[in-house]
Amino acid sequence: MTYSIEQLAYIVSAALFVFSLHWMNDPKTARRAVIAGVAAMFAAVLATWIQPQVVHHGWIILAIMLGFVVGVPLSRVPLTAVPQRTALSHAFGGVAAGLVGVAKYFLWLGEGPEHLTPFRMIAIVVEVILGFLTFTGSLMAAGKLQEVRWIPQRPVIYPFQNVINIGLLIIAGALGSLLVAYPNEPWSAVVFLTIIAIALVFGVLFIIPIGGADMPTVISILNSYAGLSAVAMGFVLDNKLLITAGALDGSSGLILSIIMCRAMNRSFTNVLFGAFGNVKAAVASGEQKNYKQETPEGASQVLEQARLVIVIPGYGMAVAQAQHRVRELYDQLTKRGITVKFAVHPVAGRMPGHMNVLLAEADIPYTALVEMDEINSDMPQCDVALVVGANDVVNPAARYDKSTPIYGMPIIDADKARMVFAIKRSKNPGFAGIDNELYFKDNTFMLFGDAKAVIGELVKQLAGGNH
Ligand code: TAP
Repeated sequence: MTYSIEQLAYIVSAALFVFSLHWMNDPKTARRAVIAGVAAMFAAVLATWIQPQVVHHGWIILAIMLGFVVGVPLSRVPLTAVPQRTALSHAFGGVAAGLVGVAKYFLWLGEGPEHLTPFRMIAIVVEVILGFLTFTGSLMAAGKLQEVRWIPQRPVIYPFQNVINIGLLIIAGALGSLLVAYPNEPWSAVVFLTIIAIALVFGVLFIIPIGGADMPTVISILNSYAGLSAVAMGFVLDNKLLITAGALDGSSGLILSIIMCRAMNRSFTNVLFGAFGNVKAAVASGEQKNYKQETPEGASQVLEQARLVIVIPGYGMAVAQAQHRVRELYDQLTKRGITVKFAVHPVAGRMPGHMNVLLAEADIPYTALVEMDEINSDMPQCDVALVVGANDVVNPAARYDKSTPIYGMPIIDADKARMVFAIKRSKNPGFAGIDNELYFKDNTFMLFGDAKAVIGELVKQLAGGNH
């Protein structure tokens, strides 16, 4: 009886995970997706708990309590810190899978040679390699994104780096094959622990040559490793739900990495082995160049005359939490009959969908949000492009300057608009650490200041002029 309830719950849970991912595709159904995901996980935990072979309820309660202690603070991080928060989640997923692999190996080793079948050993080896490399790799990625002092932000590069990294993986694979063939020898446990040590070291070495700008892509690759190690764990524990959920996790991580690579016009190998973000010193020399400035009064007068205004939000809008002011600006302009569109670059901000989330939070209609590919054909007809804390995603150097780290990344063609107003606080560069020539163009005017304050001022001017 218990067995069939458990199987049924697993099927419901797997279906809910699939629906959850599907609903995530659209902002309108995203909330439902979160609820479905939570319900799926709840059903999965309960269905596992009621199984008769669960012998120690105390440990499970303790684990759930620990999960709350870690999970609740993690859920409260600001939106700007979500990438590193996500990396931490993957680290936990990886280490959980790895530890289950370790426990199962030693348990079976103690129980007798017949338990460590080649199939189980392959699953355990895959599980611990992927689990532990995801653990240290994700911790490094989170540390880089959080700008932890003792973790270098810039790529760390040394001779024969890729050879060493790939060599390590080959050694781990070879030792793994040895272990599959001889799991019960007196030296087998040492080989097993050596594989774990290599995986832990590999996780660190895998991340250090990768620059911060590639971190989101790498995080989603690590997501897919964590998913694959969960699949292997499912085989070790003979748990079909883990296999299904792990496969969903693994494939969605991989798909997201591919989408991000496309958005940046990069190949996978280039992200992983290209040491992107290895920006040459002195590329950002903005202090010497001349910017033209405009006042909010002047800018609001121009905005009032426009027919089409395209707002290009970026990371600075998130930092300033300016989305609600942006909404007020949208209201002011649209009530004058001006068409306002939002150009959303796929890697604007610091996480996939960052701008969509912020704009949705401010109740800006989804229909006003336009993807990069679609909006670029509107740019030449655009009277005013209003850049709100965006930098790299509107940098024309991406089109032709091979020496910049963003070369090849598709951009929003703000420079093709009739006039550009760019809001930022200073002459500092954006994430990639390079100057943005958009700011020095004839038709660009800077509105220096915090995005929330500047847009608030624009709204005030427009509202005042209306009375
Ligand atoms: P960035 O190039 O990082 O530029 C953001 C700009 O916002 C900065 O130049 C900064 O200039 C300005 N800013 C910061 N705080 C501000 C505030 N309070 N008010 C006004 N302006 C403010 O951002 P982007 O154009 O959105 O490009 C994203 C970059 O991040 C890309 O290089 C992308 O590859 C990378 N990245 C993306 C992701 C994803 S998946 N979205 C994840 C990680 C990294 P000031 O300091 O002068 O104000």
